[in-house]
Parts: sequence; structure tokens; C-alpha cells
Amino acid sequence: MKTTIFGIEKSQAEKTVTALNELLSSYQVFYQNLRGYHWNIIGKDFFELHLKFEEYYNDAQVKIDEIAERILTLEATPLHSFDKFLEHSTLPIHSNVFEGARAVEQIREQLEVLLEKQKTILHMADDSNDIATSDLMTQYISAQEKTVWMLRSFLS
Ligand SMILES: [Fe+2]
Repeated sequence: MKTTIFGIEKSQAEKTVTALNELLSSYQVFYQNLRGYHWNIIGKDFFELHLKFEEYYNDAQVKIDEIAERILTLEATPLHSFDKFLEHSTLPIHSNVFEGARAVEQIREQLEVLLEKQKTILHMADDSNDIATSDLMTQYISAQEKTVWMLRSFLS
């Protein structure tokens, strides 16, 4: 019986898949939180933030699909139902946020949680010679650290 997938030990790949499913679930919650900010935001920054939050939820949607398809590539099944997403997400649900600065602060906090999770997955992937997962995480991390800087700048 085959014990590796693309040269990755199956037992290691299973651990990475568990972490990727938690990341996927967190992104689903993040996505829905972002839709809420996009819809409910009011105030003088409405036009700017309404558009910016749309950009963020579209980006989250792309990542959701990439993470799910990486899980499938590792010969596992991605979580795909709301009950499982809520069970496995490390991000909280945020509702009824109307103020721009509060939404931006919450997005910054959620990105910090996602960054931490992605760095853990990156190390797991590096240790198991899972180059494609490492590459995906590296791309997310470098773009999101820049976004955190921009959000901090908006808030200062
Ligand atoms: Fe819209």
C-alpha cells in the first residue's frame, strides 16, 4: 500500500489536512464577517470601506477554494457545511458592526489569527516536504502582513 502522496508521508499529510480544514473553516467565518462589514458599514468612509471590504471578501473566497482544492489534492475531503465550519473555525462570528474603524480593527485582529495559523501550517508543510502547501501559505502570509500594515495605518 502507498504510504506517501507526492513524496509526503501520509500520516504527515493527514495532520496538514486537519490544520487546512481548520483554516478553511476560519476563512468561511472571515468571509461572512466581511460580507457583514460590506453591507452594514455607515459613515464618511462608506464609499472607500464598502469597496475595500468587497475586495477582501473576494480575496477570501479565492483562498477558500484554493485551500479546499489543496485538501483534495492531498487525497482528503474538505469540510463544506456550515455546522462543520462553525465547529472548526478559530475565528469568532462578528455581527452588527456599523462603524468603519471598528470593522477595520476586527479585520486586523482576524488576519493576525489567520497569519498565526498559516505560519503553523507552513512549518508543518516544511517539515514534511510538502512544497505546494508551503508555497500557498507563503503567498498568503506575505500579502496579509502587508494588509495588516495598511489596516494599522488606516487606524493611526
Ligand atoms: Fe455588494
